[in-house]
Amino acid sequence: MNTNIEETKRQYEYIDKLKSIVKDKSKKIGRELTYNVTTFGCQMNARDSEKLRGILNTIGYIESEDENADFVIYNTCTVRENANNKVYGRLGVLYSYKKKNPNMIIALCGCMMQEDVVIQKIKESYNFVDLIFGTHNIFKFPELLYNVIDSNDQIIDIWEDTTQIVEKLPTSRKYSFKSGINIMFGCNNFCSYCIVPYVRGRERSRKPEEIIEEIKTLSEDGVKEIMLLGQNVNSYGKGLDEDINFAKLLSEINDIDSIKRIRFMTSHPKDLSDELIDVMASSDKICDHLHLPLQSGSTEILSKMNRHYTKEDYLSLVDRIRAKITDIALTTDIIVGFPGETEEDFEETLDVVRKVGFDSAFTFIYSKRTGTPAASMENQISDDVIKDRFDRLLELVQKMGRERYDRRVGKTYDVLVENVNEKDASLLSGRMSNNAIVHFPGDEKLIGEIVNVSIKECKGFYYIGEMYE
Ligand code: SAH
Ligand code: SF4
Ligand code: F3S
Repeated sequence: MNTNIEETKRQYEYIDKLKSIVKDKSKKIGRELTYNVTTFGCQMNARDSEKLRGILNTIGYIESEDENADFVIYNTCTVRENANNKVYGRLGVLYSYKKKNPNMIIALCGCMMQEDVVIQKIKESYNFVDLIFGTHNIFKFPELLYNVIDSNDQIIDIWEDTTQIVEKLPTSRKYSFKSGINIMFGCNNFCSYCIVPYVRGRERSRKPEEIIEEIKTLSEDGVKEIMLLGQNVNSYGKGLDEDINFAKLLSEINDIDSIKRIRFMTSHPKDLSDELIDVMASSDKICDHLHLPLQSGSTEILSKMNRHYTKEDYLSLVDRIRAKITDIALTTDIIVGFPGETEEDFEETLDVVRKVGFDSAFTFIYSKRTGTPAASMENQISDDVIKDRFDRLLELVQKMGRERYDRRVGKTYDVLVENVNEKDASLLSGRMSNNAIVHFPGDEKLIGEIVNVSIKECKGFYYIGEMYE
């Protein structure tokens, strides 16, 4: 593991050069240059996009809601095939803007760019794209942008993997009071359906002191809630020299006074320790929410998925968690139609959903990802069987979720106020510790504050409440 300070310095030199280029260009065309960042995929990508925004803001571009801007970048996801198709569809629209704006620069980055077939396709059919980079060299964005402007050529820079972690480049947060923080990058689990390990590379943990320092800086800047990010936070610390694991890291973060709420995602069930459950149970700051992807309830399918736990392991883990944190909200991810999934296998999944009672679940139709072991497995399931199972699963997930949600009516919760309600400006919207959303009358001055809200009504998957003064 290698924290590269020299590289940070180098990129700041490019940031300085870009500042004067952007200034000159603006002067020449008589207006400020605009940018637009679109993010596909997960929280990791959302955090990476904050880094892109941070750099673009620092060099003097102005953010625009509109994709008809001077610099447009798509931060892509490739976890399922439909994520890819969306990108291709939208590139056509960007091209029509570019034909009218000679200053426009189009860039692509993120997970999809780590796939050779994608790069081939873009080279062949989308040669109007100016800049392409991947997940491992996102820190080089200032340098790459400088080179694109300087050379006027298409630049493609994709790395196979990296051991480097480059710290302390600018970021621009979406919310002033909450922030995501990477604690690790990559994934070593190779679940047989999943492309993430191939496009995000091997697992690398950030040093605990770097994480703590970043959180302290954020808290001085008004951040109250943090979300620790990693593909499998429970294996945090492996490969570091320090004697640290995820539970210990959480305890250290818990001691930072001005941080009031701590969330994390995602937890792989195979690595979730009793030590972690104890730390969660003993902390008022660690939120009462755990996202614990199940993927399937069938032990046989789980084994083919390379998940390293059985149906019974999962259920007993849930029991251990609920024994210590009674009111915890559990959420999950489930894949329907993994190769070889029989009706009996699928019913095992329904059985787990019934037994656990998730607050909510992301349900996905299995998507074949080239290069993963599952893509070449026999017995791929037909679309109509998958569709039928998917509908049945969704119905059960929603029924169980509503029951969990209903149980909270009449109780009072701490709520972090996030924004004015988009549909009704007399209401504020905020999140409870268990991640549920509640709307209630209040003044927008309270945004970023934690207030006490009594839950009056359940509207399915959100609540209407009333604030205690
Ligand atoms: N690291 C996280 C998940 C990252 S991907 C974890 O292991 O929990 C988010 C979700 O996408 C996964 O949990 C899985 O449910 C889903 N997913 C991943 N690959 C998929 C595929 N090939 N088809 C359908 N869903 C997939
Ligand atoms: Fe994919 Fe599995 Fe890694 Fe999650 S843990 S990112 S599902 S390989
Ligand atoms: Fe997608 Fe990459 Fe995240 S493939 S889900 S954006 S890690």
